[in-house]
Amino acid sequence: MSKEIVLSGIRPTGFLHLGNYFGALRNYVRMQEDYNCYFFVANWHSLTTHPNTKELQQSVHRVIAENIACGLDPNKVALYVQSDVPEIAELYLYLNMMAYKGELEKTASFKDKVRSNPENVNAGLLTYPVLMSADILIHRALYVPVGKDQEQHLEMARNFAERFNNRYGEVFPLPKAFNYNSELVKIMGLDGNGKMSKSENQMATLYLADDDETIRKKIMKAKTDSGPTAPDSEKPDYIQNLFTLMQLVSTKDVYNQFESNYNNCNIRYGDFKKQLAEDMAIFIKPIREKAAEIQHDNVFLSKVIKEGAEKARESASKTLLLVREVINMNY
Ligand code: TYM
Repeated sequence: MSKEIVLSGIRPTGFLHLGNYFGALRNYVRMQEDYNCYFFVANWHSLTTHPNTKELQQSVHRVIAENIACGLDPNKVALYVQSDVPEIAELYLYLNMMAYKGELEKTASFKDKVRSNPENVNAGLLTYPVLMSADILIHRALYVPVGKDQEQHLEMARNFAERFNNRYGEVFPLPKAFNYNSELVKIMGLDGNGKMSKSENQMATLYLADDDETIRKKIMKAKTDSGPTAPDSEKPDYIQNLFTLMQLVSTKDVYNQFESNYNNCNIRYGDFKKQLAEDMAIFIKPIREKAAEIQHDNVFLSKVIKEGAEKARESASKTLLLVREVINMNY
């Protein structure tokens, strides 16, 4: 039986952080064992907000290196760079004819970006979800492991796929956001504001490239409060966020101990954060070191990127043949 197809991507707009790890990378690594996986660096998408490309090549290499350092095996998956697969751009063009200005203008991420950067409201930003849909549909992917922030984009991808199928013929399965039977994840900033992000609010974000001292400093500054006053109280979201991080990096026993301290109202946040910081430093260290090593190995990186592009183009060109056939573009 052929394996189900998985696709996901990451923009090269800065160092990867724990939000990327939780929302995306952790699932990539798990899914590579059971699915036919395509993972890529979304360098076209980065142009919508980061037009200066001086450091783009380095950032693309960094993201590839961090993906591998987190456990992705380029022999098991297609790991590639978006701009190496021109088939995506052609599908993007067809899908653009099916995307309406009104629905694009209503997208939350578009409205956010207009607000934060009003002097660069370009057409690429408006059609960002269409390009993202082309990324997914070009491999006829079914599952898309992403964090909560991408949920709306996935809904749009499903709509465009359905619209295409209805108008021209069944080519695309309807893709779904994926997180192993769980809700999609959102990791908040350590200051309790918004989400961890590659390019904003760096002191509240734990990067996979942070050194031990920086990790300790950031976690010790994380937002807490004077603690629960009644047994078994619900955790405020910024405390829950720290527990979520602890669940990833600490042993079950340690986690259960602090959870029970919280429930019994005798948690000491200083001790809690110290433990979290130590376990986090141990978790991040090998990823940081491996990524740094890979990033400087240009021969290896070029080989990975070239082989990834070959695998991705093979699948993409098959889809494009079907697309051209149903829309009568094959002369
Ligand atoms: P990007 O580069 O912002 O983020 C990469 C992945 O990390 C997840 N993520 C988070 N998850 C939980 N908590 C957070 N604080 C957090 N921050 C980021 C994102 O949900 C994402 O899964 N538009 C996409 C890139 C993209 C893409 C695609 C993704 C382009 N084409 C096709 C999937 C399919 C983006 O900007 O991700």
